[in-house]
Amino acid sequence: MSNRIYLYPVWIRIWHIINAILFLVLIFTGIALRFAGQENAVSLIRFDQAVAWHNVAAIILTASYVIFVIGNAISRNGRYYRIKKENFWTELIAQFKFYAFGMFRKEKHPFPVNEERKFNPLQKISYVLAMYAGMPVLIITGFGLLFPEILIQQFFGISGLLITDVLHFSIGFILSVFLIVHVYTCTLGQKPGTLFKSMMNGYHEEHD
Ligand code: HEM
Repeated sequence: MSNRIYLYPVWIRIWHIINAILFLVLIFTGIALRFAGQENAVSLIRFDQAVAWHNVAAIILTASYVIFVIGNAISRNGRYYRIKKENFWTELIAQFKFYAFGMFRKEKHPFPVNEERKFNPLQKISYVLAMYAGMPVLIITGFGLLFPEILIQQFFGISGLLITDVLHFSIGFILSVFLIVHVYTCTLGQKPGTLFKSMMNGYHEEHD
């Protein structure tokens, strides 16, 4: 028997592909900017080009982020991001145990996908943290670095520019780690390609 549910509307698929491409551009150019001018650094892109690509990708990413937030606020997709307090930790631990042990013992997924539940508890918390905590900080600090005149000069004696830079780099790093873990966990559907197929055709599919 097969179970086929339409869970990824067109707008989220378009947003996701744009977001993923921009993110890769930002990571590549961001690394080039961070290590520019350092001794022995291998440069794959000219500094001025890295700046230009980073800024343009960041501005488009900001626009696409606004669409993501509005889209989730006004469409059914937003309900998949709502975190319930009850059983929060027990469910998170159950999912963690599945990823750590259960799946190697061929156990069944503890939180199978259905119309009401698109994400398992670990996916949900990581998406909420990445999209509603990490991304806003990344974007706000990025704009602070683009327009340094809007920044507070000194904060408890430390340069506002330095704090913004450290925050921007750290969140960028954390979101890059998120991206690696995210792509790995996306291979843990029924088959390694199941979730990637869903992101392309919109349907979550499972076969007995
Ligand atoms: C090479 C890059 C990427 C690949 C291959 C990829 C792959 C996927 C796949 C297969 C899914 C569907 C599975 C699921 O619903 O969990 C998904 C969903 C998702 N991804 Fe990615 N992703 C990438 C980059 C990113 C980045 C950079 C972000 C955010 C910073 C992101 C955020 C999300 C979110 C929020 C969802 C859930 C969307 C929804 O259905 O509401 N992804 N991704």
